[in-house]
Amino acid sequence: MAEHPAYPVGLRLAGRRVVVLGGGQVAQRRLPALIAAGADILLVSPEATPSVEAMADAGEIVWERRPYADGDLADAWYALIATSDPEANTRASAEGEAHRVWCVRSDDADAATAWTPATGHSEGVTVAVLTTDARGRDPRHTAAVRDAVVEGLRDGTLVAPHHRTRTPGVALVGGGPGDPDLITVRGRRLLAEADVVIADRLGPRDLLAELPPHVEVIDAAKIPYGRFMAQEAINNALIEHARKGRSVVRLKGGDPYVFGRGMEELQALAEAGIPCTVVPGISSSISVPGAAGIPVTHRGVAHEFTVVSGHVAPDDERSLVDWPALARLTGTLVVLMGVDKIGKIAETLVAHGRSPDTPVALVQEGTTAAQRRVDATLATVAETVRAEDVRPPAVIVIGEVVGVGPRTTE
Ligand SMILES: C[S@@+](CC[C@H](N)C(=O)[O-])C[C@H]1O[C@@H](n2cnc3c(N)ncnc32)[C@H](O)[C@@H]1O
Repeated sequence: MAEHPAYPVGLRLAGRRVVVLGGGQVAQRRLPALIAAGADILLVSPEATPSVEAMADAGEIVWERRPYADGDLADAWYALIATSDPEANTRASAEGEAHRVWCVRSDDADAATAWTPATGHSEGVTVAVLTTDARGRDPRHTAAVRDAVVEGLRDGTLVAPHHRTRTPGVALVGGGPGDPDLITVRGRRLLAEADVVIADRLGPRDLLAELPPHVEVIDAAKIPYGRFMAQEAINNALIEHARKGRSVVRLKGGDPYVFGRGMEELQALAEAGIPCTVVPGISSSISVPGAAGIPVTHRGVAHEFTVVSGHVAPDDERSLVDWPALARLTGTLVVLMGVDKIGKIAETLVAHGRSPDTPVALVQEGTTAAQRRVDATLATVAETVRAEDVRPPAVIVIGEVVGVGPRTTE
């Protein structure tokens, strides 16, 4: 049998009986995919790992707490034989053979009538990798091939154009805080499929360098806006390129909906009848403090965190922020776009009850090679920002969480 390559096939197991013998690590690894396939799963095993037990408790599988007995495979379409008793595995294999049930054996690939491929998924396809013969079996190699294919499809380094499902219109993609590794898998794939990318100054600029030469990369800050407001000019550019039938990615820093004007762009596109998909991103408000060793919450220290825009000063009539209320909170304040106004912000927080000794950290250009952290207190922060020449972009963290971790960066 082993001299011939295995014949690859996709089993459609929904509603069909699958018998799993043994409730150990093998079952734990294989059961989720069988459950996802909708199989009617009977587990026969005196014991099971806590994860397998949880699947039984959740009603995802039926568990009979006993050893394998002849006849267990009678109603099965497919079986996974993985008990710790080789003799029981052999008997079960023989039963599978007699009833023509395809059986996977965890202990003896040669004696099995089916092999489990290394599988992975990427946007609508399942990648399944099988070894060609049992003697040359090298599960690490098949897993590595699977990983290479799936990773390549996800990050766009392996290009398999979508002929039917290419995303039309515009994708508003949250690019994360700056480190190119911190964009989502979906965002990266859409970037790899784009004809036009309109990018902000913030976000993963390094990814733009990897785009193929035919991709038009437009710096949002440089779009001429004449009599328009800059945002309107960006909206118009998105609409114009999408109307030419091109796949457009609007690459934004962090998350598109956190002070990112994502909804304004989505509304403009909706009004123009252009389909738009929004891909969330890792917001700098959480990830940049984290990159500098500051958790925005910490047990026993802060039970809340509030993300605030500091682009207008507290005494500015355009401000929508209730700073006195924020001063009364005991948790973490995360201020974005606040470097210029931090003096006024600190003053207002202290005037309304926050201690002047409250720790403050400013993290400039977080997650990039230029990341820098400067510490102060509410009393000293205005002077520290001047003395240390802290510049935007920076995330400002105010609260006791600033002091809980070891300092990871300078
Ligand atoms: C217009 S807001 C956009 C926020 C973005 N949508 C997000 O979710 O992170 C820009 C502000 O985000 C913060 N910011 C974004 N990326 C940053 C980074 N890598 N390091 C420090 N601050 C950053 C700064 O406060 C900056 O002024």
